[in-house]
Amino acid sequence: MKCRVIAVLGTRPEAIKLALVIHEFRRRSEEFETAVVHTGQHRTMLDHVLQYFKIKPDFDLDVMRPNQTLNSLTGRVLDTVENACHRFEPNLVLVQGDTTTAFASALAAYYCKIPVGHIEAGLRSHDIYNPFPEEANRRLAAVLTEIHFPPTVLAHDNLLAEGVPADKIVITGNTVIDTLRALSQLPHSWDNTPLAGIPTENYRLVLVTSHRRESWGKDQENMCLALKDLVSQHPDIRVIYPVHMNPNVRSTVNALLRNTDRIHLTEPLDYITFVSLLRRCFLVLTDSGGVQEEAPTFGKPVLVLRNLTERPEASQFGMAKIIGMSREGIVKETNRLLNDEDAYQDMSEGSNPYGDGHGSQRIVEAISRWHQKKTPLLAPDQQFKLPARPIPRRRKSDLSERAGNAAAAGKE
Ligand code: UD1
Ligand code: UDP
Repeated sequence: MKCRVIAVLGTRPEAIKLALVIHEFRRRSEEFETAVVHTGQHRTMLDHVLQYFKIKPDFDLDVMRPNQTLNSLTGRVLDTVENACHRFEPNLVLVQGDTTTAFASALAAYYCKIPVGHIEAGLRSHDIYNPFPEEANRRLAAVLTEIHFPPTVLAHDNLLAEGVPADKIVITGNTVIDTLRALSQLPHSWDNTPLAGIPTENYRLVLVTSHRRESWGKDQENMCLALKDLVSQHPDIRVIYPVHMNPNVRSTVNALLRNTDRIHLTEPLDYITFVSLLRRCFLVLTDSGGVQEEAPTFGKPVLVLRNLTERPEASQFGMAKIIGMSREGIVKETNRLLNDEDAYQDMSEGSNPYGDGHGSQRIVEAISRWHQKKTPLLAPDQQFKLPARPIPRRRKSDLSERAGNAAAAGKE
């Protein structure tokens, strides 16, 4: 009997992170019958991802409303996902991450007594209002979940600490790295994209994204003022800021930054154009989860526009830094990277700690074994391991100096 799986997505990051998982299910179509449920929590921001990866939703639930509230959105997802579960009768409902689509779909499946698989499980900031509502969404999803797919060892340990049994957890690596690796061809030209016409030669490009609910208002204003300070202090930089479609973000950003010399506000970029910008930029300022995970692949230092992160691996590797949302702090930390070559080099070396491009295969294999009632869900040596931590350049030169001294001392 085939394993019937519903994969639910609704927002831009869910589509990006599930695209290759869905492909892997389809590649193993002798074992799996898969239905893609698109709640429609986002619309324009993710449809291009589905088109690029040729994914046609089997159920399109169309829940998005302009400036929607969390409660009304949750209600619509619960209702419509329940309906899709009744129609498809899956063995497992697979959700990704910490959005309202992910949490409410897990709840809808649970109410229908259908087991839930949770991808990108176990991320924790340990503060339920930061990020809001994602920290609560993912913790609530964990309670309802049968199989947990944390991307990293740290996320795995968070789940163990909450009492999740070890045999229900598989460390996968983040599937966003699978998607990044699948983009073998990035465009060289930005013609016909929102980046067309931005002069890039002889400029360092600072890529900015931000959308978190807890930063709306004052923090978002501080960030905008910091960007203005930075362009006035550095004639050789251009800020490129694809602005999220949430109207609460747009109103502040447009009011403070529209028509500022060398600050380019654009519409959200399609994924392939965004990744090509990520590869070409000098550094990244962001509060996005996905962008924090992707930037280390291209050796781009990330300054995290938040007070804490549930993705600390890149900062532990020295490839990202949490800098908060004060105007002074943002200017100071960005200046450090713009002015100090060693500081910049230190943050741009190392392997991506979030994944190795095989997350989707691990997830689908574990689900296959779960369906066949095999244990373990995935052998420990097949799970994702953290790459070695990079040694900062300055420490490296200290070490070689010390080795040189020791050798010289040995000769004496
Ligand atoms: C949502 C997720 C957040 C995730 C982010 C990724 C929740 C509560 N929030 O935040 O965790 O990090 O997506 O981007 O799940 N809109 C459009 N077109 C679109 C998308 C959004 O017009 O394609 C506008 C609509 O007015 C919509 C509003 O943005 O009502 C808010 O969308 P919503 O999904 O509720 O929240 P996000 O801020 O996008
Ligand atoms: N992204 C994109 N176009 C943009 C901005 C971001 O395709 O203009 C991609 C980015 O590469 C990452 C994902 O969207 O994979 C992150 O989405 P977002 O920041 O909206 O959500 P989060 O990751 O914070 O939940």
